Amino acid sequence: MRILLGVTGGIAAYKSAELLRLLQKRDYDVVVAMTKNAQRFITSLTLATLSRHRVITDMYAEEEAPLGRDIDIEHLRVAASVDLFLVAPATANVLGKFAHGIADDFLSSLFLAVQVPVIIAPAMNVHMWNHPTVQDNIRKLRSQGINIIEPEEGYLAEGVMGKGRLASLETIVNAVVKGTDPRQDFKGETILITAGPTCEDIDPVRYITNRSSGKMGYQLAVASQSRGARTILVSGPTHLLPPANVEFFSVRSAMEMREKVLQNWSRSTILVKAAAVADFKPREFVSQKIKKSSEERCLELVPTPDILSELGKQKGDRILVGFAAETEGVLENARKKLREKNLDLLIVNDITQEGIGFDSDANAVTILTRDGKEFNVPKKSKREMADEILDSIVALRNQRV
Ligand code: CTP
Repeated sequence: MRILLGVTGGIAAYKSAELLRLLQKRDYDVVVAMTKNAQRFITSLTLATLSRHRVITDMYAEEEAPLGRDIDIEHLRVAASVDLFLVAPATANVLGKFAHGIADDFLSSLFLAVQVPVIIAPAMNVHMWNHPTVQDNIRKLRSQGINIIEPEEGYLAEGVMGKGRLASLETIVNAVVKGTDPRQDFKGETILITAGPTCEDIDPVRYITNRSSGKMGYQLAVASQSRGARTILVSGPTHLLPPANVEFFSVRSAMEMREKVLQNWSRSTILVKAAAVADFKPREFVSQKIKKSSEERCLELVPTPDILSELGKQKGDRILVGFAAETEGVLENARKKLREKNLDLLIVNDITQEGIGFDSDANAVTILTRDGKEFNVPKKSKREMADEILDSIVALRNQRV
């Protein structure tokens, strides 16, 4: 599981290196984001070396964002790839920003973007901690379900005794363990998930693809691994970071996706095909760039193999879950797909509805089961939808035993 550790600028920032090590000992993959002031207390190099990941700082976002790409994208990508957000130490300043939705740096933007449990361990001067404004902010954050680990009494850096010292690292680590998904109802399962679009090349610079962003499939991978499954993700080209603790295979075309899925199929117990596989590919790949001409030109397309149908024919005891994107005759077409592809569940996206589906962070679906049940799941975040889909798989599994 991946933890995002936010470090802010107080003297206790030096303890974040030790905290990071303790989390790693518990098998968490830790990604660090630091505020500018935190970097005055501990270097990003220390935390990058220990975490083996590039540390995210405001400066990095500005310097490294490729030309023409919105730097905000970076915090959304990070937000989507973590299982829990821990801020330790948190200053009075950052508590104020979080409580009031001020997003003027990377860390405070991340706070608004994450859809995972948040744990905050404040550390500050005793008078600051007791200040009514700080206490108001704490109350407000707690009312949003955020776990605030109170500072402890002790000898403070400014030489006085009082409440304000960062809670013990053991207390913080225990809160993280409790905050990660307790269900573990997929332990022992191996889930193979496909995500994203495929790209079918025409020549070295042109290709056919579709509008799938991969978000639904990636969130399914995040949810399944945090519920204890060994998770394999086969993804077409996307802009997303591979989730932590997931076996990841990047592919480009429908043929490559088929190959990777078949390679990993025999060790899987559940297959979820969220990818939007191209149904057609150019008959031939032209190895040199096709030159402009004034003549009309036809692009000949041939069908790609239907991976899901192929697996439906040899599924044995495995649970097979398909997705369907429909624009017309939504349910009739979906029922037909469920039957013809020999699926256990079919997740139907009605892509004509505004504000859901492709590239959006939310989705609304209808879930069809093999035994003829149908239920609508109203609009919710793709992360929450991933858990709903996994819940349906659990229900199906329970029926079998
Ligand atoms: N699928 C697949 N291989 C393909 C095409 C689709 O495995 N070559 C899978 C998708 O991953 C998805 C399901 O089949 O889980 C349904 O995809 P969808 O595009 O909705 O349906 P199609 O079968 O392609 O039919 P149509 O495009 O005519 O609706």
